[in-house]
Amino acid sequence: MSKEPSSQKQSRLTFLKAQIKEHDELYYKQAQPVISDQEYDKLKRELDDIESEIDPLGLFTDSEFDNNTPVKPGFISVGDDRLEGFKSHRHVEAMLSLDNTYDQSDFFDFDKRLKKIFGEEDIDYVVEPKIDGVAVSLTYRKGILETAVTRGNGVEGDIIIQNLLHLQDLPREIVSTDIPGFIEIRGEIYMEHEEFLRINKDRTRLNLPLYANPRNLAAGTVKLLDPKEAKQRQLKIVLYGLGACEPSSFFNSQIAFHEALKTWQFPTVEFVKFVRSADSAWDRICQLDKLRHGYAYPTDGAVIKLDSREKQNIAGHTSKAPRWAIAYKFESERQVTKLIDIILQVGRTGAVTPVACLDPVQLAGTMVSRASLHNADEIHRKDIRVGDQVVVEKAGEIIPQVVEVIEESRTEDVPSFKFPSHCPICNSLLVRTEGEATWRCSDYDCPDQLKGRIEYFASRGCLDIENLGEAVVNQLVDSKLVSRLDELYQLEQSQLLQLEGFAEKSAKNLIEAIEQSKTQEFWRMICGLGIKHIGASASKDLARNFSDWRSLAGAKVEDFTAIEGVGMIMAESLSLFFNDSDNLSFLESMENLGVVLKSDIEIETSRPLVGKTFVLTGSLEIFSRLEATAKIESLGGKVSSSVSKQTSFVVAGPGAGSKLDKARKLDVEILNEAEFTSFLKDIVSQ
Ligand code: IVH
Repeated sequence: MSKEPSSQKQSRLTFLKAQIKEHDELYYKQAQPVISDQEYDKLKRELDDIESEIDPLGLFTDSEFDNNTPVKPGFISVGDDRLEGFKSHRHVEAMLSLDNTYDQSDFFDFDKRLKKIFGEEDIDYVVEPKIDGVAVSLTYRKGILETAVTRGNGVEGDIIIQNLLHLQDLPREIVSTDIPGFIEIRGEIYMEHEEFLRINKDRTRLNLPLYANPRNLAAGTVKLLDPKEAKQRQLKIVLYGLGACEPSSFFNSQIAFHEALKTWQFPTVEFVKFVRSADSAWDRICQLDKLRHGYAYPTDGAVIKLDSREKQNIAGHTSKAPRWAIAYKFESERQVTKLIDIILQVGRTGAVTPVACLDPVQLAGTMVSRASLHNADEIHRKDIRVGDQVVVEKAGEIIPQVVEVIEESRTEDVPSFKFPSHCPICNSLLVRTEGEATWRCSDYDCPDQLKGRIEYFASRGCLDIENLGEAVVNQLVDSKLVSRLDELYQLEQSQLLQLEGFAEKSAKNLIEAIEQSKTQEFWRMICGLGIKHIGASASKDLARNFSDWRSLAGAKVEDFTAIEGVGMIMAESLSLFFNDSDNLSFLESMENLGVVLKSDIEIETSRPLVGKTFVLTGSLEIFSRLEATAKIESLGGKVSSSVSKQTSFVVAGPGAGSKLDKARKLDVEILNEAEFTSFLKDIVSQ
């Protein structure tokens, strides 16, 4: 029996899960991660460690399957990149992720596990570069390209072929006499550095937010809803993996598959090598680390795969990753440079972020002159002082970080950095909530907070107001033309003409763009309010369930949590926002100015299972999980993975465990599969 987890561990667990969920949403759906892969992997590892400490058998955690449970197609858990507006496609063979490590000993442990399974002294592997792009699966029937799909949730992905048709190196046909009848070929879409720079330069000109790195831009491009827009951006593709294949015996090894890809003239990865032992694989991994910057695609590690297909099948996989492959990730590049200054930026939520100004230094292909210092505690912990020589790292090519100080290089007696007690912009007191690392400016009217709110409101992901980027927002706030968000809608052309850089046409265009935003979709309005924890995906869920801002304002915490995708943290944040009279008068004022704050879609009430949430547990025999989910969703219901008071029914098959117990405890109605089937029949015939 597992030990009762200490409340400290439990709250850390809850915190980590919420964080990981948020980062998954940012990475997979929005293609805008805010932390590096390394930091993300660290959170994941900490979560795994705590979970296995407090619940070694995996009995009480959300995921029903531990690493040793055989996986059925419905039980894959690899994140989810699916977005609204895309048609989905079910993979024939699930598209899994890879177990990651930064540790040499983990790699040798992986080899040991396989040796034990196969009772062999040495194992044949293939070592390949790990490409840092966007996973894609191409399907070919009788040699003809049928479609291209993202990984999605591993079982079902989004069809993105329409955004890839301009790729010259994407083979439309396999030209050979010896081809399988059907094949899924997996690979990665990426963007070359030059193209990334070109697009960001254009975006600077248009005042649009910049992409942090080529991967995010590639991910954003494959998920554009307009293929014409995608066509303007040069993407590349490279293939390395085999999914389903008919006949399945067509390839008997990974290396044979690589060779076929080459003969079929697919763009393939370089530096692929067949090796006969873990030691040789390790040598190869080390060589790759030295060469990787020379390849056209961004490479962040090596993937080591069992060569024999037969053995791969025997080794099998967990719900996340195959047991026959592992990714060894390289540490990101580091450089030493001088810290010239520490400046403080105030964001839209008042968060004060310290930023390091550096003597410019070349790092992983770009010149770096700014780096993140995270927060006051981090500066203090690392004892970072202005004038120090510091180590800078560009993890995953996202935001460069100051990792540590070279203390020996501190010759003079420089004072330690004192984090100010007052906002550097408006001079109001900085405050911080207990347990939070971030200091915040306490004045909602602080000009930089306002600038941040307007920029966010106008950004692509919210109201999408063209030409209302950072530079214009700065002018509007500094000139006091706008001192509240709703005043945007009172701007006149003549006022803009007083500002530098505005002419008749540009002023007219901006006024028109602001005017047009009044009728933007409701979810964009919700998102634009910048409510803590409420991003695009939650805003869409809310807009589907509430007809206008007044019904949102009248909702209780339980009304929010009843929505699939809205958890307690989000619900409490919503409740806090809509209970604030200033926010309500702001919304009223927006409405009076003609901003449409309601949904133009019909709120779902007609389908029989609207508002009902199901949890499926144990093994189902009549339906597959996916079929049961599809059935429930087609009738307007939702399927959730965890049981709570909000759950309407738990459908329990043989082998159901902790979820069934929880349902009993919470008095949630339980159906076996036969009861569930007749329940559906009754509903449909009503
Ligand atoms: S094999 C079931 N090989 O990395 C096997 N994946 O972090 C899984 N990736 O989901 C894929 N380079 O998108 C494989 N040479 C390579 C790869 C590679 C990049 C991606 C892939 C995977 C992700 C996991």
